Amino acid sequence: MSLSESASVEADAAQLDAFLASFDDLTADGRDHSALEQRLERFLAGARAETSGRRVVMITSGGTTVPLEKNCVRSIDNFSSGTRGAWSCEEFLERHEGYDVLFLTRGGSAQPFVSDFQEVLFSEEREDPTYLHGCVDKVMRYCHGPRFLRVEFTTVFEYLHLMRMVSKHLRPLGSRVMVYLAAAVSDFYVPADRLPMNKIQSRDRVTGDLALEKTPKALGVMRHRWLPEAMMVSFKLETDESILIDKARAAARLYDVDVVVANLLHTRKDVVQLVVRGQDAPIVLERAGDRRLEGKLVATLVDRHERRFVVNERELS
Ligand code: PMT
Repeated sequence: MSLSESASVEADAAQLDAFLASFDDLTADGRDHSALEQRLERFLAGARAETSGRRVVMITSGGTTVPLEKNCVRSIDNFSSGTRGAWSCEEFLERHEGYDVLFLTRGGSAQPFVSDFQEVLFSEEREDPTYLHGCVDKVMRYCHGPRFLRVEFTTVFEYLHLMRMVSKHLRPLGSRVMVYLAAAVSDFYVPADRLPMNKIQSRDRVTGDLALEKTPKALGVMRHRWLPEAMMVSFKLETDESILIDKARAAARLYDVDVVVANLLHTRKDVVQLVVRGQDAPIVLERAGDRRLEGKLVATLVDRHERRFVVNERELS
């Protein structure tokens, strides 16, 4: 990294720290973070053991919110259902045993093995309970087992605060970590000093007060400061196909991530394009019939993670 790039990462990191500090009362969110850190340490102990060789994937999933009041009644939200993240968790847990899964999930969004549970439970057509029992069995087997840890967020501040904290614990695992950033993170927020303490009254005019600021990006800081050795997979969502790949390439270059998974809002369940660092043409992955796209997506990324180790070993020998 050049001197000016390194200075720019330092500036981004400082900006992110200042951003989180300005929302300290909201990021603390009443949770006992020291208890969470202890849970994290217990969860990572197996992978940390020197001879384990286990890998850890951190999957982020669902949309973040931006509060409009400190005592929040209203917030700005986004479309993300968390399905990509939940289904990807299932893939890692069921088909890639060498990975432990840390799932950072938006409260109330889709969860592994039960993403369609309510729909099926209340459907008039499907009365056979076998499917539902199967879902519960899988939750008990995988999500209540030692390979899975689930942590919830709601606001963009909680999300970025968790990312910074969790990264600190993952860092000693070096290149055995894969970061899989499928969450849809709010790009804009209302600064703390402009947030009213209490519920905005319906008689008030809010137009003048709703100017939004740009949320600091975490990707570059994560790549260069928090988890420099991890395999980083970020996602790029657009609604205009003509700019998708250029934007994904720009993100790959700017943040130096290993893979950018590019998708369009309305076809995100059917097709993704993988922009891989150092590779010209994107890899196109399409859903085959009823089979979820996440099967191919996760298998391709696991394969690239594996190849990274082979390359590193060659460089060392
Ligand atoms: O949840 P589903 O309904 O199943 O939909 C899945 C999905 C469309 C949400 C998912 O496939 C996806 O594309 N997620 C990323 C969407 C997004 O926020 O893209 P973006 O272009 O705004 O951000 C690009 C990357 O920057 C993301 O990996 C994000 O984690 C990261 N980011 C964003 C903002 C910020 N302040 N810091 C960041 O690091």
